[in-house]
Amino acid sequence: MGEQLTSMTVDDLDRVLAIEVMAYSHPWTRGNFIDSLAAGYLAWLRTDADGRCIGYCVAMPGFEEMHLLNLTVAPSAQRRGHARAMLQTLCDTCRAQALPMLWLEVRQGNEVARQLYRRFGFETVGLRRDYYPAGHGRREDAVVMRLAIPRSNDALV
Ligand SMILES: CC(C)(COP(=O)(O)OP(=O)(O)OC[C@H]1O[C@@H](n2cnc3c(N)ncnc32)[C@H](O)[C@@H]1OP(=O)(O)O)[C@@H](O)C(=O)NCCC(=O)NCCS
Repeated sequence: MGEQLTSMTVDDLDRVLAIEVMAYSHPWTRGNFIDSLAAGYLAWLRTDADGRCIGYCVAMPGFEEMHLLNLTVAPSAQRRGHARAMLQTLCDTCRAQALPMLWLEVRQGNEVARQLYRRFGFETVGLRRDYYPAGHGRREDAVVMRLAIPRSNDALV
């Protein structure tokens, strides 16, 4: 299809932030992305055949787990499988690094993202009360989801 996944760098942040502010009511700041890059987290940019940024993801590796922190697709490029493709690459990376569990939090009201994760195979394992700011002094719960990553040498029978 001509899409590519490359490492995100500080030089990409203008175009990342242009999407981020369109996609979220409470977007990450430039500082959030800079901190993630400085910490050495996984950070990828998905570009189309013309090199335009159409999405990105950030994930934090930990002990025997990976934690997905940000997964975003530009509104104009949504519903074409880009999020699913980034999730698949993240799973492949977990498998290659022998990290058996992929975790994430998602706003309870974010039905689109929850549907994406459910369809991908994530299970809901809990709720973090009042985890996200929701405007006007309110908070929104986070749904905690996880996906078990089969080991690469597990036989598929
Ligand atoms: C959530 C998001 C990343 C999905 O990206 P996407 O590239 O459009 O998703 P995909 O095309 O890979 O969709 C994969 C599956 O997710 C589900 N899905 C995606 N968009 C959906 C929608 N608008 N309505 C219902 N289900 C949807 C479907 O099951 C879809 O599979 P299908 O198209 O075969 O039915 C994107 O909508 C987005 O960036 N939203 C704003 C930011 C956000 O909420 N990020 C997640 C934070 S936890």
